[in-house]
Amino acid sequence: MNGITILSTGRYIPEDCVANDDFTKYVETSDEWIRTRTGIATRHFANGESTWYMGAMAAKAALERENIDPGQIDLLLVSCCTPDYLTPSMACMIQRELGLKNAHCIDINCACSGFVYGLDMARRYLNSDGEIQTVLLVSTERLSQMLDFTDRSTCVLLGDGAGAVVVKGRENAIYAFSGGAIGESGGALNAKYPRCESPFGNPETRKECFEFPEVREKFLYMDGREVYRFSTKVFPEMLRTCCGKLGIQVSDLDHIVPHQANYRIVDTAIKALGLDPEQKKKVFLNLDQYGNTGSASIAIALDEMNSQGLLKRGDKVAVTGFGGGLTYAGIVFEW
Ligand code: ACO
Repeated sequence: MNGITILSTGRYIPEDCVANDDFTKYVETSDEWIRTRTGIATRHFANGESTWYMGAMAAKAALERENIDPGQIDLLLVSCCTPDYLTPSMACMIQRELGLKNAHCIDINCACSGFVYGLDMARRYLNSDGEIQTVLLVSTERLSQMLDFTDRSTCVLLGDGAGAVVVKGRENAIYAFSGGAIGESGGALNAKYPRCESPFGNPETRKECFEFPEVREKFLYMDGREVYRFSTKVFPEMLRTCCGKLGIQVSDLDHIVPHQANYRIVDTAIKALGLDPEQKKKVFLNLDQYGNTGSASIAIALDEMNSQGLLKRGDKVAVTGFGGGLTYAGIVFEW
């Protein structure tokens, strides 16, 4: 199978910027605690912007950057775990906003791994029967909508935002994927959607379905230590597997763009890979500004790198996602 090329990138970051100290109004915390435990200094929260709107603005920026006609998009994939509606999908909302009249529209939910899974899906569509020639992949999250702003262990970690890429197939370009899921650990990071029950339910025949031991109706629950252990394990494994498939070393990569969860996860994973201080410079981080924006984080990072002229055609880029599910996905591809 052939690889991919990313034709264009875009992002949307809400204007409202919240500094660590701002949280002290609501919870007992400090700038020092948040910075040293996570590397985060600020994050942006939506102020009226919906998930689909941020995604549409990121997609619009990606189309406009390279003057891509919206009619050229054959497939719109949207990764998101914080949709505004259960139906229509975020992809249909973005299609409507941007007039992507020829696009098939599909949402995917793999939490923080969503962008990487989406990129791999794009590649598989692009390399199938020729019907899909151009894919727009949008990752958009309004994570603030599932945060309990009285829970200091989660509310300081996350932010809102969106990123987008336009993808085409490319012959003879290197590409390797590694990914998976550990459903039995799903409770470590869960957010339950509130639901209604039918008025006809008979209490005597009611089925009791499995619930995670810790669930918070509407809000995110996270077992930080388990997520940390999981993330620091799968991150280096994915990189090694992808590089192994391509017959290259991790040190041969030009850029490593991890899910921007927190600095300590990234640092521990990079140490496990044995990268020296010079090679550590290949790791792109912007979580200090945006916090963890879920599946949008890698898409936002790629757009920042592209805007700063850091990415050259032919560069070997690794993206690694990990998060809710628990899911993980990594790709090494050629820019
Ligand atoms: N400010 C001050 N104190 C805090 C805060 C805060 N914001 N949050 C927690 N604490 C306190 C805790 O209450 C606890 O106090 P106690 O000892 O009196 O009970 C103490 O700090 C230590 O808490 P821990 O949870 O053990 O803190 P730890 O050092 O493990 O760091 C962290 C927590 C940063 C969440 C860590 O577990 C981690 O990095 N986990 C990875 C999870 C992550 O980054 N998730 C992001 C979303 S998931 C994803 O994208 C993959």
